[in-house]
Amino acid sequence: MKRFTRSGVWALVLALLLIASACGGNTSGNSSSKNDGGKSTPASASEKKDGKIKIGFSMDTLQEERWQKDRDLFKAAAEALGATVEVQAANSDDAKQIAQAENLISQGVDVLVVVPHNSEATAAIVEKAHEAGIKVVAYDRLILNSDLDLYISFDNERVGEMQAEAITKLQPKGKYVYIGGADTDNNAILFKKGAFNILQPFVDKGDIEIVYDQFTKDWNPANALANMENALTANNNQIDAVVAANDGTAGGVIQALASQGLDGKIPVSGQDAELAAAQRIVEGTQSMTVYKPIKTLAERAAELAVQLGKGEAISTNKTVNNGKIEVPSVLLDPVAVDQSNIDDTVIADGFHTKEDVYKNVK
Ligand code: BGC
Repeated sequence: MKRFTRSGVWALVLALLLIASACGGNTSGNSSSKNDGGKSTPASASEKKDGKIKIGFSMDTLQEERWQKDRDLFKAAAEALGATVEVQAANSDDAKQIAQAENLISQGVDVLVVVPHNSEATAAIVEKAHEAGIKVVAYDRLILNSDLDLYISFDNERVGEMQAEAITKLQPKGKYVYIGGADTDNNAILFKKGAFNILQPFVDKGDIEIVYDQFTKDWNPANALANMENALTANNNQIDAVVAANDGTAGGVIQALASQGLDGKIPVSGQDAELAAAQRIVEGTQSMTVYKPIKTLAERAAELAVQLGKGEAISTNKTVNNGKIEVPSVLLDPVAVDQSNIDDTVIADGFHTKEDVYKNVK
């Protein structure tokens, strides 16, 4: 009787083990939103969790110097965590970015990391990825009106505030030009909001007049140059300050100023701490930039992407509303940089070498 019971127990244990191994893919704690229905990826979720996580990195552009750093640092950080990364860049083309993301999805990536060209259009990518059970991370730029899984960036409104704070300190009165980013990029909207948080009280007092205010299509420096030429012409060169949204647009602005002999005579802001901008700062033609430690962004993003790819729960300390949901978010701190602290920030961090930055300065 006793013996019979024991063998019965063994049979039961064996049966349970068989059932458990058959259901392996569904045993993870956080796999409830994974939907393998119909379009399941080649390997099962349980197989992937033990193997290499494959990350699809869909980038808008490599136009600005920073994106090459983002790509390289993100790849290195993910690989150090045992993941592989497949990168695609879309050249500021919405249709191309969506097609590339679809391609990454069909390659069976475990997680998709997206730098959206268009904050609205890329919601389609989130939807398609979710249909295939793939989570999506918005890298540096938010994807609006979607069930995005994670947003990781800097405090972008603060970036805009830092730009306008620096410029109003140098020029608290006069005719101002605002050269924004691409209006398809949610960051450009946030930079502008931040800048006007600071500028508006000066405008209300009557100290500052905004004589020209334009976004810059695709963040293209040539478009910023053309806009700045228009601003100068329309105001007979009587401009007192320029808030430019990034270093690329600042480069276009400063070129337009230079052709009127005005470079270095009026303050201009920027962002990204690009080498060319860092050089302009020490040479005196650009007043400031906003340094965003890309390494921290890339490493944190890689860590979280790998966790999402493994189906693990992630923890973030913030949420940001994207028009549809409160997106779990990580927002890092930007740093305002001018001549006075460039050595202690951008150079001390190894973002650029002192030799490179001061190359043209005796
Ligand atoms: C980024 C900036 C960058 C700009 C143009 C923005 O979304 O935050 O760092 O300069 O895009 O690529």
